[in-house]
Amino acid sequence: MTSITTSAPGKCILFGEHAVVYGHPAVAVAIDQRISVRIQPSPSGIWLLDGSELNMQRNPHIAALINKLWPKESGAPPLSIHIEGNIPRAAGLGSSAALSVAFAGALRLARGRLMREAGSNDRVHWAEGFGSTISLTSAYDNKTGIFPDQTLAELFHLTGPESVDEDENAILAHSVEAIAQKGRASPMDSSTCSHGGIIVISDQQEHKLDYLYHRELTTPSGTVRWHIHQLASIAQPDDVYLVIGNTGVNAPTAKQVAKVAKMLQDNPTKIEEIETIGKIARRGIEALKRADYAAVGRTMSENQLMLKSIGVSSPELDVLIRAATPSSLGVKLTGAGGGGCMVALTKNPRATSDAIELAGGRTLISKLGSPGMSIDSLPNSTFWQKS
Ligand code: MEV
Repeated sequence: MTSITTSAPGKCILFGEHAVVYGHPAVAVAIDQRISVRIQPSPSGIWLLDGSELNMQRNPHIAALINKLWPKESGAPPLSIHIEGNIPRAAGLGSSAALSVAFAGALRLARGRLMREAGSNDRVHWAEGFGSTISLTSAYDNKTGIFPDQTLAELFHLTGPESVDEDENAILAHSVEAIAQKGRASPMDSSTCSHGGIIVISDQQEHKLDYLYHRELTTPSGTVRWHIHQLASIAQPDDVYLVIGNTGVNAPTAKQVAKVAKMLQDNPTKIEEIETIGKIARRGIEALKRADYAAVGRTMSENQLMLKSIGVSSPELDVLIRAATPSSLGVKLTGAGGGGCMVALTKNPRATSDAIELAGGRTLISKLGSPGMSIDSLPNSTFWQKS
C-alpha cells in the first residue's frame, strides 16, 4: 500500500523559554532526535493511530490538523497514522511541535495541494497554500478553538503545487500549539522543528542573522509579535555538544505556561523577572553571533537562576543541573520546566552524560542545529483531492 513518510526534529531551548511567550527574545536549536510520521489510507474506514482507533481528545495536535487540513465534512477519507521516533514526550523537547510539523507536511502531501488562482473571490476555502508572506498567525479563535476561515481567506496565496514549505508547516504547527496552550504559545518550537538549525526569536530584526519572517498572535494577554531568524551563516562548533538530561517527570507545557500566567496575574511585579530573562537571552544571542561558547554557557546558567525564580524549575531538575555543572560550560532547564529536561552545553559530552546519569537522569547527546522537516517517502498519487 502507498504511504507518505515525513519527519521533523525535536528542539532544545538555550535561552528565553516562558519570556518568549510574552514577546521577549529566545534561542532554540533543532536536535538530532526526530519524530517520523507515516500515513496511508485507513484499511478499516476509521482513523487509526498505531493500529488502534484514534482518540481525538487525547491527541489534540493531530485532531486540530485533521479539522483544518482533512475535514470529514468535505469528504476527506480516514487515514492510518504511525508515529515513531526518539524524542521523549512531554519532556520539553518539542515532541508536539515536531509531530505537528511532520503531520501537517504529510497531510499537505497527501492532499496534493490543489489551489486556485490568487485574487479570485470564489477561492474562499479553508487555507490551501499560505506561506512566508503571512505574518499573522491568526490561528486561535477563543470561542471555537479553530482557524477562522474568513481571516485565512484574506491571507492565503499560491505557493506552488508540489512543494510543502517550511514556513507553512511552521505556521500550522504554531496554530495548533496555540490551541493546545489556550492561546499562549510562541512560535519557538514550531519554527525550530520546521526549519531546523538554530532559531533566534527577537522583539526586533537582528543584524548578522538570516531573517525568516515575523509572526503575530492575539493571546489572552494581548497581541504579541515575534521576529524569527535563523543563525545559519555562522560556523557551527565541532567541539561543543548539548547533553540533555531527562528527569523522567512528565511536565505538560500548557500547565507550566498557565502557571506562569497565573503568577504574573497574582504578582505583577514578577514581570521584572520575565524582562530579565529577555535581557539575558539578548546577551546569549550576542555571544552566539560571536561564536563565544564560553559566554553562551555562562549566559545559560544565568538564565537558569531566573527560571528558578519564576518557579518553573523543580527539585529533580536541580539535582541533574548540579551534577552536570562541573563538566559544562553552562547548564539550565530547557522547555517548560516543572520536570522534563535540563540541558548542558559541554566540550566533554561523555563526562557530562555520565554525571547526569549517576544523578538519576537519562541522557541524549546532540550537536547544535540539526536539519528541519524532511519528506522521507512519497507515493505517485494523492490520497484525496477536494473537488
Ligand atoms: C516550551 O517549549 C517553551 C515555552 O516558552 C512555551 C512557548 O514558547 O510557547 C515554555
